[in-house]
Amino acid sequence: MKIAIGADHGGYHLKEDLGAFLSAKGHEVIDLGAHVFEPDDDYPDFAGAVAGAVAAGGAERGILVCGSGVGASIAANKFPGIRAAVCHDTFSAHQGVEDDDMNVLCLGARIIGAELAREVAERFLSARFSGLERHQRRVGKVKGFERDFTT
Ligand code: RB5
Repeated sequence: MKIAIGADHGGYHLKEDLGAFLSAKGHEVIDLGAHVFEPDDDYPDFAGAVAGAVAAGGAERGILVCGSGVGASIAANKFPGIRAAVCHDTFSAHQGVEDDDMNVLCLGARIIGAELAREVAERFLSARFSGLERHQRRVGKVKGFERDFTT
């Protein structure tokens, strides 16, 4: 799968680990930065790059890492078409896709270790939206909120 990844200083090292891991698993990983560890960089810059790539169709899914995952998810969710969430467990990572059509996974490198992050990312990437009528209806209502504020 084509995946855009990004991280600020809080998530830089975990992002590097995940990028290498997912590439080795056969995914096409587009690293949108940070490309060097910069202790004063800002998570919205990388959240915007990843969310923008996913929203524009340049990547199918996105993975963002910051210190907690929270700032990155708040920023990414400002982009129309983005459904981002912080998931630090494998159940949320796959159910978020299956039921809610989550397309950006946010991780907090100060919360989760590299091994669990790898498993969470794999469950996120292997999951597919179920397409069940009740889930389409619910996601449709969420998209309706977006339309209300973008027209
Ligand atoms: C940066 O220190 C930190 O605030 C950021 O990585 C993230 O945790 C924000 O939610």
